[in-house]
Amino acid sequence: MLQPENILCREDKNCKDSNDRFFADVLDGLQSIPKTLESKYFYDEKGDVLFQQIMGMPEYYLTRCELDIFKNQTRLLNGYIAADNSPFDLIELGAGDATKSSYLLKNLVETDTDFTYMPIDISGNILSVLNKRLTAEIPGLDIITLEGEYFDMLEQATHISARRKVLMFLGGNIGNMEKDEALSFCMKLREYLNPGDILLIGFDLKKHPQTILDAYNDKQGITAAFNLNLLTRINRELGANFDIQDFEHYQNYDPLTGACRSYLVSLKKQTVIIDDKVINFEKDEAIYMEVSQKFSKNDIAMMAEESGFYIGGAAYDNKGWFTDSIWIAK
Ligand code: AVI
Repeated sequence: MLQPENILCREDKNCKDSNDRFFADVLDGLQSIPKTLESKYFYDEKGDVLFQQIMGMPEYYLTRCELDIFKNQTRLLNGYIAADNSPFDLIELGAGDATKSSYLLKNLVETDTDFTYMPIDISGNILSVLNKRLTAEIPGLDIITLEGEYFDMLEQATHISARRKVLMFLGGNIGNMEKDEALSFCMKLREYLNPGDILLIGFDLKKHPQTILDAYNDKQGITAAFNLNLLTRINRELGANFDIQDFEHYQNYDPLTGACRSYLVSLKKQTVIIDDKVINFEKDEAIYMEVSQKFSKNDIAMMAEESGFYIGGAAYDNKGWFTDSIWIAK
């Protein structure tokens, strides 16, 4: 998953702006009570590699579950998406390498469905690799790549064509937003859609608490390294002096709220300098890093309703651990 901060700066100004924003966000977070850092900054070059490793871990079931849905329930999903046989634009937010969606695309092309695939990603490089690969692998696929921020590109998509829209937001990424942010995000997506348009959105479901905790608290320490890497990034890019040895990853899952949260705990009373700013840590003080929210079917239904959609259907993996929910714009 590439985030805005990962793009190679083509102009110094872009670079400076994103670095200034990173600095401001980090400072703001570490000067807050409680201290916090934003998980969108996990994804530098090393963070991307660590996340790939997380997706391959036996404990981290999310990617395998959603892949199972796209591999084995392609026709069910396509039945919802192409229901009335009218032409449409299939827009994927944060398409990345489109591993999961390519199953859908193949089936849609094979069934002569009239659609254009519009992957949105912040990385032009990812999009051009994707474009080449999909064009070769799926002859006949109509593809328009959209490079930029989600909402800017959605705006652009509405100008490119007036066809009905099917939006995809996969991977359980919605879970990395706090509940109120997730709701505003879905409400904002709704603004770009017309009644009857579809949002296909992936949710990790509530399940045995230990299964969830294990997925984020792996014995190999990859998730710990993923969290700690943000401190290394702050040292490198913002000239800070975090001693990584003095912080420890702590994960917790609350089965009542469905919030799985990660923290970095300061192992001693210490001071960290970022630029000329002094940040004091008490022993055992935590920095809140990330939420990976888990949902019940009822949570999903309420969120759909509150953001201007109704549920048209859903696909589940064979364990019933993850769902791709089909929301129809009211
Ligand atoms: C990207 N996102 C859906 C992952 C998740 O499961 O919340 C990020 C992650 N954080 C730790 N492990 C995986």
